[in-house]
Amino acid sequence: MKPRCLVVALGLAGGLLAADARAAPDAASLARGEQIYARCAACHAIEGNRTGPQHCGLFGRRAGTAPGYSAYSKAMRESQWVWDEKSLHVFLKDPMTALPGTSMGYAGVKDAAERSDLIAWLKVASHLGEACKPAP
Ligand code: HEC
Repeated sequence: MKPRCLVVALGLAGGLLAADARAAPDAASLARGEQIYARCAACHAIEGNRTGPQHCGLFGRRAGTAPGYSAYSKAMRESQWVWDEKSLHVFLKDPMTALPGTSMGYAGVKDAAERSDLIAWLKVASHLGEACKPAP
């Protein structure tokens, strides 16, 4: 391997390690995320629909499709969004601007670090890869 290739390879490996560190949130940010979710709990739960749709199985799910939740706005049903870190950052920063017509009457989580902690916690708590049980 030429020295230049080695530098590139090391740089790539370093980048991957850094990405891994970001993908695995530390316990402190998960704890902060859980606290921030208290703001959502007025309307949401992980398991079970309330004023807002249940958050179990959120990651990778199409917006507006939580089982048994029938109060979605037209805007949400037709958004074509799929929930992941990126779309959650956009929506949760300012829901009513990001998705005009949404019925989520909430001003949003403006602080980017708070949003990151919240989304990291939500990713774990919503049971990655596991869908909601059908609503009773
Ligand atoms: C005042 C009640 C209320 C609060 C507070 C609230 N939400 Fe919502 N949320 C809703 C409603 C209602 C909807 C359905 C919106 C629609 O259909 O346009 C919704 C939808 C969502 C969705 C889309 C889910 C899906 O199944 O497509 C996500 C994600 C979400 N909320 C996350 C949050 C998070 C995270 C918080 C806290 C930072 C929060 N919400 C705070 C009422 C609320």
